[in-house]
Amino acid sequence: MIFSPTPNNIAQAAQIIAAGGIIGLPTETVYGLAADASNADAVGLVYTTKGRPSDHPLIVHLAPQAGTLHWAATAPSFARDLIKSFWPGPLTVVLPRTAHAGDFITGRQKTVALRCPAHPVAQALLQACLEAGIHGLAAPSANRFGRMSPTTAQHVVDEFDTPVFTLDGGACEVGIESTIVDCTGAMPRILRHGAITLDDVARVTGLVVLDAVGHNNSPRVSGSLAAHYAPATPLLLCAAQDSGKLASTAVYVGFDKPVQLPMSCAFHAMPSDATLYARQLYATLRNLDTMGYSQIAVQPVPPSIAWAGVRDRLGRAAATFA
Ligand code: TXA
Ligand code: MG
Repeated sequence: MIFSPTPNNIAQAAQIIAAGGIIGLPTETVYGLAADASNADAVGLVYTTKGRPSDHPLIVHLAPQAGTLHWAATAPSFARDLIKSFWPGPLTVVLPRTAHAGDFITGRQKTVALRCPAHPVAQALLQACLEAGIHGLAAPSANRFGRMSPTTAQHVVDEFDTPVFTLDGGACEVGIESTIVDCTGAMPRILRHGAITLDDVARVTGLVVLDAVGHNNSPRVSGSLAAHYAPATPLLLCAAQDSGKLASTAVYVGFDKPVQLPMSCAFHAMPSDATLYARQLYATLRNLDTMGYSQIAVQPVPPSIAWAGVRDRLGRAAATFA
């Protein structure tokens, strides 16, 4: 069920949350499946709806006015600098938790992941919840476990067999999940690449930033599993010069149509700008997934830091089929 984000519908969503239910929540990154982060049963419903292992920790989403003190015991000055620069926005910080952050949120870790989303509908709902005494919403991406994150309300509704009350916030502007920065050590560690890059984190903190993506094989960071974010159609990375070998039933997704591509192969053009590419990525793959192609062959994206988020998602999607 898709609902326009009128004040009445936002109030109704807050009531569903307060009653221990779950809702589909638009954010600027991807849509989330949101529940009261202090209600173990409600968070349990998120896990069962997603089919997600219950030891995977969730991000707690905060209203801009909420502050981190309810959930995080301390924040080093570099974390405060990051929050000042990038909240509200596509940045998640991992901090030492308070007793308010239950094991069912943190996956029994001593840390909690916090994010203040920039989307006005998310902010309106978080504010309504805060006024009702709810300090944050746990909201993993609103997809079944291992699948691609939804970037429209329709994607959310299509994803689950049971109806989910979903607020329509339009197509997500960022299109890939938030950058996650572990702020529990002496230096920032990137746990997941996103729109805020390693360079952005280095610039704001003035510190050396560690790239822990791919070095952390803990299943506790579900996005860190090699096989993740995949369409159902086999996806492979294929350089333009290798595209001549593709079957006529494949589609090639790239910047420019390669001269080597067989005439019979479909071609789908993607933007050469990383921000625009990220915005379209999941919707494009979901759409191609419905078109009956035998393979989705994707041109590798540039090796630069600006492309790290997209490169990481494509690499994981391809790893699912490798
Ligand atoms: O952009 C986003 O972050 C979206 C939107 C809805 O806000 N949410 C999202 O949630 O991507 P999810 O659950 O799909 O991914 C949360 C990630 C997982 O990789 C999880 O393991 C990691 O955050 N995470 C959560 N708590 C953590 C913690 N205490 N330490 C390390 N990683 C943590
Ligand atoms: Mg996810």
